[in-house]
Amino acid sequence: MDKYIPVVVIKELCEVDVILPALKANSLNCAEITFRTDCAAAAIKAAAEKYPDMVIGAGTVINENQCRQAIKAGAKFIVSPGLSVPVANLCRKKHIPYYPGCVTPTEIMQALELGITTVKFFPANVYGGLQALKALAAPFPQIRFIPTGGIDRNNIDEFLAFDKVAAIGGSFFVKESLEKFKGTI
Ligand code: 3PG
Repeated sequence: MDKYIPVVVIKELCEVDVILPALKANSLNCAEITFRTDCAAAAIKAAAEKYPDMVIGAGTVINENQCRQAIKAGAKFIVSPGLSVPVANLCRKKHIPYYPGCVTPTEIMQALELGITTVKFFPANVYGGLQALKALAAPFPQIRFIPTGGIDRNNIDEFLAFDKVAAIGGSFFVKESLEKFKGTI
């Protein structure tokens, strides 16, 4: 898994060819394209075809139908804001990693029962930040986390320093990459 997971919102398909090159230029080789817009599946398909050296996944996947569309479009991983049992089952069947959002011990226990050992901790800033993450991690030594939500350059290093953090998710990677990329044109 990539250490950095940029959370990408594509409003128009043409943005794929702006955002992905910017991420690549910023040494980010992964993109979580979110199902928050109508063109999400088409954007995943375009990204997977045009940028085969990048790991393209789907985010904000909240039901089995979106999950099916995402996998069909070429998504290599699936992320949800919460935990969906139908999405988990489909991902397991298709051998695609699934990172559900979990912020309570009960949700983590449910993830474990589904065979999932890496979960998204979202929204990280609202659910108590690093302090809460550490407390939550203590009873689950087998679980690794992807904190997402409210993470930026000011706090990323403290999250990365915690050994239970598998990766960091965030939209700030996109913003930062676009700003830097524009600066080089
Ligand atoms: C997500 O869907 O993962 C979040 O919207 C990302 O949160 P951020 O915009 O605070 O990084």
